Amino acid sequence: MQLKKDQLRLWDAGIAVAGLITARRRGFYMAAAKVTPLVAGNWKMNGLTASRGELTKMIAGAGVLASKIELMVCPPATLIAIFSDAAKGSAITIGAQDCDAAASGAHTGDISAEMLADAGARAVIVGHSERRSDHHETDAQVRAKAQAAWRVGLTAIVCVGEQRAEREAGKTLDVVGRQLDGSLPDGATAAKLVIAYEPVWAIGTGLTPTPANVAEVHAFIRQQLNTRFAGDGGTIRILYGGSVKPDNARELLTVAEVNGALVGGASLRADDFLGIAAVYR
Ligand code: 13P
Repeated sequence: MQLKKDQLRLWDAGIAVAGLITARRRGFYMAAAKVTPLVAGNWKMNGLTASRGELTKMIAGAGVLASKIELMVCPPATLIAIFSDAAKGSAITIGAQDCDAAASGAHTGDISAEMLADAGARAVIVGHSERRSDHHETDAQVRAKAQAAWRVGLTAIVCVGEQRAEREAGKTLDVVGRQLDGSLPDGATAAKLVIAYEPVWAIGTGLTPTPANVAEVHAFIRQQLNTRFAGDGGTIRILYGGSVKPDNARELLTVAEVNGALVGGASLRADDFLGIAAVYR
């Protein structure tokens, strides 16, 4: 009888271990599956109130994708409130392109995260290469902006990416690693943070990295996120950005660890934007 009990205990222990292993494996696969791709359009300094018609077309086409991905449009600040109203209840969320780190005060021309949230934005792009180059934004400033976004519950879409000369010098991973270290605040979760890898030389040029290049950088970013944010690192979305078009979207967005796209020029027209998102149909 005693022997039987011991055998049973052993048997139970075996099942428990096997269960743990399976749960861990399942957990791993579930973690991978839990990442809902995000296709976000960065309209940059384009769009007038008349562009609402294009948003309406996007909303009409977004419904069929709603269960598969998240779609976001980041118009200029002047359109956030009217786009948010127009997109209410639809499969499209509205984001912003930049914010000031301060909540309010004497900063003529700047817009705080509080104001963006008040206007209906759900996310904000920070550290885009055009902000880093045109406005000399540093990693520390980008980090402060991401913290400002979190202060009001906005998702921060933090952009990183190397210049052409840096890629040619074989420094891509060094540059991206440094930008991640300096630009990301502690305590990131999948809801609070999205990374956009945008090689500067691929933005608006029609040039794109090879899928192997994209895979290398995205795997590196994933590894950095896993190290820095432990449990959440595996589910933070990593977008690719830089000359994504409907005809190259499949090649770029099906690369491992690519969880969507940050689209510039091709996000201005509903047909192109939806054509890119259709990769996930
Ligand atoms: P393009 O898609 O126009 O190359 O722009 C990419 C970008 O900068 C998105 O933030």
